[in-house]
Amino acid sequence: MRKIAAIIGGGVIGGGWLARFLLNGWDVNLYDPDPESKRKIKAVLENARHALPMLYDVNLPVEGSLNFCESIKDAVEGATWIQESVPERLDLKHKVFNEIINHASSDAVIGSSTSGFKPSELQEGSIRPDSIIVTHPFNPVYLLPLIELVPSPANSVTIIDKAKEILTSLGMFPLHVRKEIDAHIADRFLEAVWREGLWLIKDGIATTQEIDDAIRYGFGLRWAQMGLFETYRIAGGEEGMAHFISQFGPCLQWPWTKLMDVPELTDELIEQIANQSDAQSGHKSIRELERLRDNNLIAILRSLKNENTAAGALINNHEKTIKPELPSEYDNPITTINRVIPNDWTDYNGHMNESRYGQIFSDAADIIMKTVGANEAYIASGLSYFTVDIAIKFLAETHAGSNIHVKSYILQGEGKKMRLFHQMYGEDGTLMATGEQMLIHVSLETRRACEPRKDVLTNLERIAAAHSKIEDPRGGKQ
Ligand SMILES: NC(=O)c1ccc[n+]([C@@H]2O[C@H](COP(=O)([O-])OP(=O)(O)OC[C@H]3O[C@@H](n4cnc5c(N)ncnc54)[C@H](O)[C@@H]3O)[C@@H](O)[C@H]2O)c1
Repeated sequence: MRKIAAIIGGGVIGGGWLARFLLNGWDVNLYDPDPESKRKIKAVLENARHALPMLYDVNLPVEGSLNFCESIKDAVEGATWIQESVPERLDLKHKVFNEIINHASSDAVIGSSTSGFKPSELQEGSIRPDSIIVTHPFNPVYLLPLIELVPSPANSVTIIDKAKEILTSLGMFPLHVRKEIDAHIADRFLEAVWREGLWLIKDGIATTQEIDDAIRYGFGLRWAQMGLFETYRIAGGEEGMAHFISQFGPCLQWPWTKLMDVPELTDELIEQIANQSDAQSGHKSIRELERLRDNNLIAILRSLKNENTAAGALINNHEKTIKPELPSEYDNPITTINRVIPNDWTDYNGHMNESRYGQIFSDAADIIMKTVGANEAYIASGLSYFTVDIAIKFLAETHAGSNIHVKSYILQGEGKKMRLFHQMYGEDGTLMATGEQMLIHVSLETRRACEPRKDVLTNLERIAAAHSKIEDPRGGKQ
């Protein structure tokens, strides 16, 4: 059965949620009364389609379908997950929840993106408070995995567990905030840093640019991979955290922070900040800044993925749950790869490094292996295929962010031999590269060639026979 998510409010945050669900194969219903909604969602989706698939080294599920709805009722009927992302006004949120609950299925999760309200405040006056829970995301929602999952005592374990399971299946990290509090965990931090930043500007100590540099060249990098406490533990040297606290503890009594006080946001201070920010970033449009932010986040996340640590380990775990969709008919070549080229795959010439073509065709061969039945269980049983030869032709430049797909043919499938031909196409249908690859079936025990298992051989022969009737992709009839 198709899974449906309803997004209520499709602004900065709702648009990000919409993209996260859609690109993970869910159908999405959107309700937003803004007449500009379609245009805004198109722009968010353009960014998300460029960015999210770059994180993964497997094909993402086929995108779900997107429906723009005329009412909350139309959007929420039949939805498993309903995400409220309307402006941060409690009266408006209450009105929206009441309308949602009138039409939603009784076991649907109703998540709220609220940055600051407690779940018990959102649930006030509701006939089904148990269904409403805070699921607080971070912008851009399609890339950043953290969701603060904040229940109140009215929420049952069932709804909390269901929410965790669905969020995890979307590649997100549900952080269960066990005790409700205004602004949850992360926004309390951001608020503290924000206040300090406002003071530093108001007191003429630093500009917006200098504050941003102080973050991004230093502790901002540390925070992305270890957070606060593990970082400080290391800062304490061999004696660890206790030493760190004894060393820096006294600073808490010194005037190192002005957080007890809030600067008044006078017109003058606002203008000062806005002018500095214009000088710092005004030469770039918001769309350009979003692209830059997304590409930087992808670079960081992919590096963490290579190290299998922090948010990168989360992506690796999610990847393992995404199963390729294998074809059931073989009258045509098999679409084995459908992906976006990540920004760490290009070289100094600005195009994809040649080794990555080999990787793409090797990933395509993995899909063919799975299609004939040489899957993980088969390999675990001690049998596999090894590539013994590959000839790649580079026909057009492939750039980071390009959407490519690969069509694969089984040219030969007899006994121990499997000969494949891959064609890699760009989004506009341009043939970018081809690869002809010979694989030999082996025993992983003896590391020598051997016959495949009978069922695998039968599948291989059947597909090779079907593909022999197609025009030879190398030119002429096979
Ligand atoms: N912007 C952020 O960085 C951020 C981060 C995390 C959480 N949030 C939270 O997400 C929520 C939405 O914030 P945002 O930044 O996306 O705001 P936004 O102004 O960009 O979007 C709000 C959207 O809700 C729509 N809307 C207004 N009334 C509606 C109604 N009755 N029904 C359906 N849609 C309606 C608006 O047309 C608009 O498109 C807020 O609760 C906010 O606290 C924001």
